[in-house]
Amino acid sequence: MKPLYDAGIIGGGVIGLSTAYYLSKSGLRVAVFESGKTGSGSSRAAAGMLGAHTETEENDAFFKFAKESQALYPELAQDLLLESGIDIQLQYNGMYKLAMTAEEAVSLKKRAELEPDVEWHSKEYVLKNEPDLIAAIHGALRIEKDGQVSPVLLCEALKQAILQMNGKIYENTPVYKINRFNISNYEIKTAQGDYLCESLVLANGAWSSCILEDFARNAAVHPVKGECLSVSLQGCKLSSTVFHESCYLVPKLDGKIVIGATMENGNWNQEPTIKGISALMEKAKKMMPVIEHAHFHKAWAGLRPGSIDGKPYIGRLSSMPNLFVAAGHYRNGILLAPRTGVMIRDLFLNRTIDSEFIHAFQIIRSER
Ligand code: FAD
Ligand code: GLY
Repeated sequence: MKPLYDAGIIGGGVIGLSTAYYLSKSGLRVAVFESGKTGSGSSRAAAGMLGAHTETEENDAFFKFAKESQALYPELAQDLLLESGIDIQLQYNGMYKLAMTAEEAVSLKKRAELEPDVEWHSKEYVLKNEPDLIAAIHGALRIEKDGQVSPVLLCEALKQAILQMNGKIYENTPVYKINRFNISNYEIKTAQGDYLCESLVLANGAWSSCILEDFARNAAVHPVKGECLSVSLQGCKLSSTVFHESCYLVPKLDGKIVIGATMENGNWNQEPTIKGISALMEKAKKMMPVIEHAHFHKAWAGLRPGSIDGKPYIGRLSSMPNLFVAAGHYRNGILLAPRTGVMIRDLFLNRTIDSEFIHAFQIIRSER
């Protein structure tokens, strides 16, 4: 007899794991099916920033969702510590978005006037707090609330907590087909055998358009390759994350600094390149010249799950009953993971969902 699960989750990245976690907490029998090891896809490549303010430009449903997700982190970190014994290294060291030109200063100051959670800081103030930054800055936007976590520890903690709640995690188990089995079940066909589930959640990151015709027809997910490196610099005083354009420096608790990240649409290759890493090194030196003395630690790459408009797909697939999608989290899957898991749980339990989120993240965007 094949095991029967209430929910089968395809993909064991941060989105699949967070979804499985919140469903398990509601008493559902869940199984996660993962091609390789959990947390080994894009989630492993992430810098771990919870950049609700840093990564958004508009005051829209996405920004609201991002802030709600960010706000779930303190409780999640505490619960995961109790449930798994793993500290996900949630820290609020704040972020500076640097103005390198007078025009950038004008635009960032305007943002500070409109957004209550961000402040404009003068060049002198910023350099007093972050003396290693380049002296040529015009000031910076300070975002106190945008913290960070360790994505690797977050995925491991979620995995352990799911196992503690008797959830099943099938690693090295790629799903290659999904069939309707009878009126109320799905059959998940994997390289390791077949499994029955009443409901499914498609959460396999950049690969989300690869299994299910019905989803791929409506909402393409594509890879956006991102390369990163980490370095260590003795005596470095950097204490906040700093951002300029698409480059960021993230100081980690182990003393390393993560430098990210490149952006390349449609590239499925997961190896870092000299081109990508040297471009990041140049950008990093422009923000913090002393970084040229840093010791290289390692470089890596991952595939962000890109969507048509940079916003995730979270909802039901209307053409297939009890089939949910949590995909396309692009640059912000770590940030958005808790709120995504909660939204899928609420959909499962037929709870009321904020209509703004239903509309913004619906699968068929052309229905807008
Ligand atoms: P993934 O983590 O890729 O997980 C999908 C999983 O599905 C994979 O493990 C894969 O093996 C599995 N899978 C695929 N096909 C199948 C199949 N057929 N059967 C079973 N399993 C399958 N976000 C932030 O919020 N903050 C950051 O600081 C940040 N920095 C980033 C830096 C870089 C360089 C990159 C590349 C991304 C960054 N992101 C960041 C984005 C974030 O990493 C992603 O949005 C997030 O990891 C997506 O999670 P996911 O679970 O959807 O995808
Ligand atoms: N959010 C950072 C990145 O995707 O590179």
